[in-house]
Amino acid sequence: MAEPNKSSIIEVSKVSKSFSVGDQMVPVLFDVSFSVNDGDFVIIFGPSGSGKSTLLHIMLGLEPPTEGTVMLVGEDIYSYRTEDDRAVLRKQLIGMVYQQPNWIKSLNVIENVAFPLLLLGTDKALSIEKARDELKKVNMLEKAEYKPTELSGGQQQRIALARALINNPEIIIADEPTGNLDFTSGQDMMKLLSDLNTEESRTIVMVTHDLEYIRYAKSVVRVLDGKIMKVYSGKEKDELGKELTYKRGFVGEEELDGASEDNSGKKTK
Ligand SMILES: Nc1ncnc2c1ncn2[C@@H]1O[C@H](COP(=O)(O)OP(=O)(O)O)[C@@H](O)[C@H]1O
Ligand SMILES: [Mg+2]
Repeated sequence: MAEPNKSSIIEVSKVSKSFSVGDQMVPVLFDVSFSVNDGDFVIIFGPSGSGKSTLLHIMLGLEPPTEGTVMLVGEDIYSYRTEDDRAVLRKQLIGMVYQQPNWIKSLNVIENVAFPLLLLGTDKALSIEKARDELKKVNMLEKAEYKPTELSGGQQQRIALARALINNPEIIIADEPTGNLDFTSGQDMMKLLSDLNTEESRTIVMVTHDLEYIRYAKSVVRVLDGKIMKVYSGKEKDELGKELTYKRGFVGEEELDGASEDNSGKKTK
């Protein structure tokens, strides 16, 4: 890609990644290229261990690739930026949600949501006011005074989303945000993400191994063993969901990549 596409907000080009383990280099990602356009809702879909989180970390500026480049809003983040610069860019641009939210245990819900703003030096009253707005958006304002850990998994993820939104990020990156949730809470989370995409034009990149959620995305990047098998959009994407669901029923879960796990049997926490 000689020139970055004007509307592309993230561009991953020919990214490979190996980790050194003992005296060996273990390859995890192989020549991965794809781009995310402004306003996209991209799902990175693949089984556990296929390199999805590693890919997200590379996209977030947290982990340099062994080869290849990552452009965030037109900037080559690893060639021209230091780690500190990348952290600044990340804070301005990206809100993150993980499978398991991390809370500051001594703070209540609204203080946790406001915390990223307080860190940036924003006035306390203003930070709390903004946190209130974000909690309202995810329907959790009534729990503002609770401690996060007193709430259900689904409620905690909605609050984690509010916290991710507090800096008004253009991009939301979510790594298996529904991984620990029951079906209904998972659907709620997906609807919130979908609304943020359609109503607020936020770009969403989400990792999942769950077939159910493919329908919320505008495109699906399907990974297997550190490689992109295919990028699906439009009709092909709709077909993918159906095809995999059919295969799951037909051949049994263990033979179907991406559908071989369930929430109870997770390897990672
Ligand atoms: N820091 C690391 N050092 C060595 N190996 C790693 C490291 N991080 C991830 N891996 C390996 O990379 C592979 C992909 O991991 P990961 O990106 O977490 O996959 P996924 O998110 O798809 O489950 C796994 O085999 C994992 O053990
Ligand atoms: Mg992962």
